[in-house]
Amino acid sequence: VIPILDFGSQYVQLIARRIREAGVYSLLVSPSITLEQLARIRPKGIILSGGPSSVYEEGAPRCDPKLFDLGVPVLGICYGMQIGSQLLGARVENAEAREYGRAQLKILDRSDLLQGLPENTTVWMSHGDQVQTLGEEFLALATTPTCPYAAVRHKSRPFYGVQFHPEVTHTPHGTELLANFLFRICGCQGKWKMSDFIDAQCAVIRERVGDDQVICGLSGGVDSSVLAALLAKAIGRQLTCIFVDNGLLRKNERELVEQTFREHFDVDLRVADAGDQFLTDLAGVTDPQEKRTRIGHRFISVFKEQAARIQPVKPGGQVHFLAQGTLYPDVIESGQGYAGTAANIKLHHNVGGLPAELGFGLIEPLRNLFKDEVRKLGEVLGLPDVMVWRHPFPGPGLAVRVLGEVTRPQLDLLRDADEVLLEEIVANGLYRKTSQVFAVLLPVKSVGVMGDGRTHEQVIAVRAVETQDFMTADWARIPFDVLATISSRIINEVRGVNRVVYDISSKPPATIEWE
Ligand code: XMP
Repeated sequence: VIPILDFGSQYVQLIARRIREAGVYSLLVSPSITLEQLARIRPKGIILSGGPSSVYEEGAPRCDPKLFDLGVPVLGICYGMQIGSQLLGARVENAEAREYGRAQLKILDRSDLLQGLPENTTVWMSHGDQVQTLGEEFLALATTPTCPYAAVRHKSRPFYGVQFHPEVTHTPHGTELLANFLFRICGCQGKWKMSDFIDAQCAVIRERVGDDQVICGLSGGVDSSVLAALLAKAIGRQLTCIFVDNGLLRKNERELVEQTFREHFDVDLRVADAGDQFLTDLAGVTDPQEKRTRIGHRFISVFKEQAARIQPVKPGGQVHFLAQGTLYPDVIESGQGYAGTAANIKLHHNVGGLPAELGFGLIEPLRNLFKDEVRKLGEVLGLPDVMVWRHPFPGPGLAVRVLGEVTRPQLDLLRDADEVLLEEIVANGLYRKTSQVFAVLLPVKSVGVMGDGRTHEQVIAVRAVETQDFMTADWARIPFDVLATISSRIINEVRGVNRVVYDISSKPPATIEWE
């Protein structure tokens, strides 16, 4: 295992990812982790990440200086290099010339960390401070025109530092540098696979859960499905899944979830048929935030009611835990990154939502993973492709895609249009190339002509986006002929629609959903 002390760098997730791609398990930990906690992980090496602070500022995040006495190799990247070097006697100052972007690296010593790299290469820099005075104990390994100590090594301790970012693709030989650290310096084997993660997590979950019962809210999305599959493997019938049918789901969604989990996994699945309650709450409501609030409240009360009926399967056990499919980006987006320094971008419903209210212990085994890693995990766990590769679907479901008041006939109409749209996207091989595709029912009527008659019917907007992280997105360049088929099929097959429009707005300034 290679723990990364997360000092709040925007690239920290990439470091973890690169290491896992090299076949070594890596996880993010708080810089305030104690030496005992670290020792329990049995790290082969430790990475100190970059971060937005200055080491000489008051309150700047630090790590325990005794970390360097463990005899475990440490690689500091950017801020991580500065904090490590400072704790070991070097002097860090504000650089005369701040460096952002590409820089030319000249390598002075290619004996270990930089072995196999060309003497001159490009690296990606992003820093205002740098090590200015190295001291007797360090060796300079590489320089750039403005950064005299772009890579360093401590003479007597296994500490290495790089001022640049080896984890980004703009540093073309960064992967080799990380491989040198992992394999030559730390002696890692590179044999880690997703199935090892499953085995390790199952053991951790079993130990934590004991004889107790775990509840998992299943939404049918990738994260909760993978979570449920992992827990089913770990604790079998000690897991109870609750799927709330809020009446706001897509066509056949409930059937897909029920079928997958009943056929492939031996879990106790409870389906709460709560559509009527949700629709009653939504009657007459047109404000999007009010819709979300009412849906959120109803969800909690339905969930609680279901949870109260669950009995533990093991004697002496209690219904004690709630499992949540929180991923690393959710943690970061809510400003709950380990260093507490990542900006609070969006309050995510997964983080800090249900648990306090319900008083359960939390189980979040996906907390260190990224979406594509979760998908890989799902595949290894045996989830079918239709679940593993699903586009995301918002918790409030079709309620935020029926603009204006949400009624059963409007939901039915939207479901039919959405089904046609997705059929065409899949048939044309566009599902995996797009990040999210859906139909929106607009609350306006427009005039049309069908046969000899004038029509006055509703409008469907088609939304298709491509994005990496859903924070920014671009509208997908769906070929015109595919759009043409989508439009004519929706107008012909869905009663009540006489016009289809394509949304060509990016995010920002628009959002992905219309509400
Ligand atoms: P926006 O519309 O904010 O959407 O650009 C970004 C991503 O978040 C999803 N989304 C939600 N998910 N509850 C959710 O669980 C919500 O209230 C919600 N609103 C938007 C949206 O589908 C997209 O993937």
